[in-house]
Amino acid sequence: MELIKRPRRLRSNTALRKMVRETRVDKSSLIYPIFIAEGENIKEEIPSMPGQYRYSADRMDEKLLELEQAGVSGIMFFGIPKSKDDMGSGAYAVDGVVQQAIRRAKLQFPRLYLIADLCMCEYTSHGHCGILCGENVDNDKTLEYLAKIAVSQAYAGADMIAPSDMMDGRVAAIRAALDEHGFTNLPIMSYSVKYASCFYGPFRDAADSAPAFGDRKTYQMDYHNRREALKEAVLDVQEGADLVMVKPAMAYADIIREVRQAVDVPVAAYSVSGEYAMIKAAAAAGYMDEEKAVIEAAVCAYRAGADLYISYYAAELARYMEEGKLG
Ligand code: PBG
Repeated sequence: MELIKRPRRLRSNTALRKMVRETRVDKSSLIYPIFIAEGENIKEEIPSMPGQYRYSADRMDEKLLELEQAGVSGIMFFGIPKSKDDMGSGAYAVDGVVQQAIRRAKLQFPRLYLIADLCMCEYTSHGHCGILCGENVDNDKTLEYLAKIAVSQAYAGADMIAPSDMMDGRVAAIRAALDEHGFTNLPIMSYSVKYASCFYGPFRDAADSAPAFGDRKTYQMDYHNRREALKEAVLDVQEGADLVMVKPAMAYADIIREVRQAVDVPVAAYSVSGEYAMIKAAAAAGYMDEEKAVIEAAVCAYRAGADLYISYYAAELARYMEEGKLG
C-alpha cells in the first residue's frame, strides 16, 4: 500500500504521543468548590456526592490543606446558612457563613486564592436566585442586593467575586459597587453562560437550595441556545467581567469552544455536581474507571478551550497531573 499520510505514525510510541499532544494542562488552572455550613465541628458527607462534604469553617482546614499540598490554589466558597429568609440576608451579613470562612482561610492559608460565589439561592427561603416580586425574580431590585453581597465578601477578604445568579446587568452593578468601596483591583469572574441544567441536582441537595416553586428558566439559559451564549459572554465582558465561565462543562464543550473564540478574557469551565455524581456512581457500579473518566472529562474541557477548570475532583486532578497522567 502506498500511503504517504499515515496518522498512526505519530501514535506508535508513548514518548512520541506525549511529545505531540495538543492539549497541555497545569495544576495552576484548577479551582475547587467547597461547601461551608454554618455552625461548628461539622463534616457531613453529601449523600448525592459521595466523597464531598459540607464543612463548618473550623473543619474546612483539612480539605484546604489537602488542596494546598496537592497544588490547587483556587478555592471557590459556597455557603449553607443555618436560617434563610425572603431577602437572603445571610448572604450579605458581616458574620455570614462565607464571610467568616473567607476571613479564616485568609489567615490560615495566605497562599490560597479565595473566590466567593455570589448568589442568593442558598440564602433565600424560596430558593430563587434573587428578590421576588410575586412569583417573579425582580431583576433590578436584585442587583442592589448582589452589589451589597459583593462588597461584604470583598471586606471579608475574597480575592475574586464570582456571580452565579444570572441577573441582567449584574456585572456592571457589582463592578460599580466594588469600585465605590475602593476594591478597584478585585476581579470578577462571571458565570456568564449558565444553563438551566438538571446537572445541578446534587448541588441543590448539598446546599439545600432547590427552588420552592417553579424553576430557574426565567434567568438561567435554555440549553438549546448557542448564539445566546455568545451574547451573554460578550455583554459581561463589556460590563467589566475579568473572566467568564461556561457551566456545566461536560455536555457543553461546543459552547466552551465558541466562547473561547468570542472573548479575549480567560474562560473557565465548571464541571458541576451532576458530572461528579455520574462518574462516582458509574465507578461505584464498576461500569467505568473513575480516574480515567475524571481525566478524560477534564482534558476534554481544556481541549475545548477552557483556561480554568472548576471541579470537585480538583485535588485528584492535581495529583494526576503531578504523576504525568495528563498532558
Ligand atoms: C447558585 C449555583 C448553583 C451552582 C453553582 N452556583 C446551583 C443552581 O444554579 O441551581 C451549581 C454547581 C454545581 O452543580 O456543582 N446559583
